[in-house]
Amino acid sequence: MTFTRRAFCAGLGGVAGLALTRPALAAQPTLTARKATVQLAPEGYPTTEVWSYDGTLPGPLIRVPQGGRVTRQLVNALDVPTSVHWHGIRIDNAMDGVSGLTQDPVPPGGTFDYDFAVPDAGTYWYHAHKNSMEQVARGLSGVLIVDEATPPDVDRDEILMLGDWLLDPDTGAFVEPFANPMTMSHGGRTGNLVGVNGQYAYGLTAETGERLRLRLINSANARIFGLRLQGMAGWTVALDGMPLDEPEPLTTEIILAPAQRVDLIVDVTAAMDQPAALLMAMSDDSWQALVEVKITGGRTPRADPPAPLPANPNTALPDLTQARSLEIVMEGGAMAGMDSAVFEGETLDFRGLIERGQYWALSGRSGLSGTPFATLQRGEPVRIKLVNRTVFPHAMHLHGTHFRQIGPDGTLGPLRDTILSFPDEPLEIAFTADNPGKWLFHCHMLAHAATGMTTWIEVA
Ligand code: C2O
Ligand code: CU
Repeated sequence: MTFTRRAFCAGLGGVAGLALTRPALAAQPTLTARKATVQLAPEGYPTTEVWSYDGTLPGPLIRVPQGGRVTRQLVNALDVPTSVHWHGIRIDNAMDGVSGLTQDPVPPGGTFDYDFAVPDAGTYWYHAHKNSMEQVARGLSGVLIVDEATPPDVDRDEILMLGDWLLDPDTGAFVEPFANPMTMSHGGRTGNLVGVNGQYAYGLTAETGERLRLRLINSANARIFGLRLQGMAGWTVALDGMPLDEPEPLTTEIILAPAQRVDLIVDVTAAMDQPAALLMAMSDDSWQALVEVKITGGRTPRADPPAPLPANPNTALPDLTQARSLEIVMEGGAMAGMDSAVFEGETLDFRGLIERGQYWALSGRSGLSGTPFATLQRGEPVRIKLVNRTVFPHAMHLHGTHFRQIGPDGTLGPLRDTILSFPDEPLEIAFTADNPGKWLFHCHMLAHAATGMTTWIEVA
């Protein structure tokens, strides 16, 4: 085969063009959703075909200074429509990435330009928000870090994105179907393989006396992690990206529900040859190393506890005396069920709902409907009681703004964007509706969200 003269010239022209002209505008960096083959299972097991951002799992780390912008063109090279949600960011509503609410899904071959400011520093993540139950389980997620202007005094900043995958160990393929009535009506899709940063055996090295910032992110579809440190001691300094007013000494197990994040600052206390690890609670109550830390030397530890992270600009407390009161009742699922709920404008009994693939409801509404659960005025304070009448825990997530839990004594807890609700333990949250737009409120056990536990509020 020979080159035609035209192809040859075109090639030449391209090279010459590169040398002589510089593009006037830098092209927007891309984020390509595409298939890729990665080693998720331990070495020796087959590889897995995943749906990825840019071919890696997790997707590429996006890191910007506080007050900067995230600019990415999503390129959809998958065979299915998709969109990207930037979890926890106090974002412009048009950029929130919710297919069917804030944007149309991006078809195969299509693109969407995401471009938004990031007002708050912290640990965030991004993930698919179209059929997320399947798309996130197949790998479509990544880490988004917004850096403080003045970072804390630590020796290293480590990101640990926890995930779990349900794989067939013989083939490496994801176990199908993703829409499984058994998991959808129970605790959701839980993996048979737990890993960190896309690796089964992710590890760290550190020196005795080093101070580390550990950013833990739970990207699993349904797994609630119980976590503990071994050979390290320290403080919780941020939850769901937002700094605590004061670092809180780590004394008990850390519970990390799907989509939640926790930032720790820890001092390595283990000496050489002593075990150090992030441990994970197993179902038999034993603890297993999830991230082993190999001690490679020693140095003098810092004497003082860490200073709090610099506060973000969103810390004003909602005025509870003026707040509107709402209630969201979680119903449905195996072993509890419900009498009836409205699905796509029709009132159906539990049996009818199940026939339509709906297992859950929020205050009598199953699934995203055309009308909001509530319309709030901009600047209006609101308190929402969350009542869990199911027999499962749910990780309830509000888009677009963080909220605070109202304690039994009426005091307001730290800012969060995802809160774990347990059966028969009512919770109440509060926030000021200051971000205009259509904001999803849903369970982050993604099989629950897909089968009824999704609603939205409008801030006018
Ligand atoms: Cu991370 Cu609508 O969710
Ligand atoms: Cu749930």
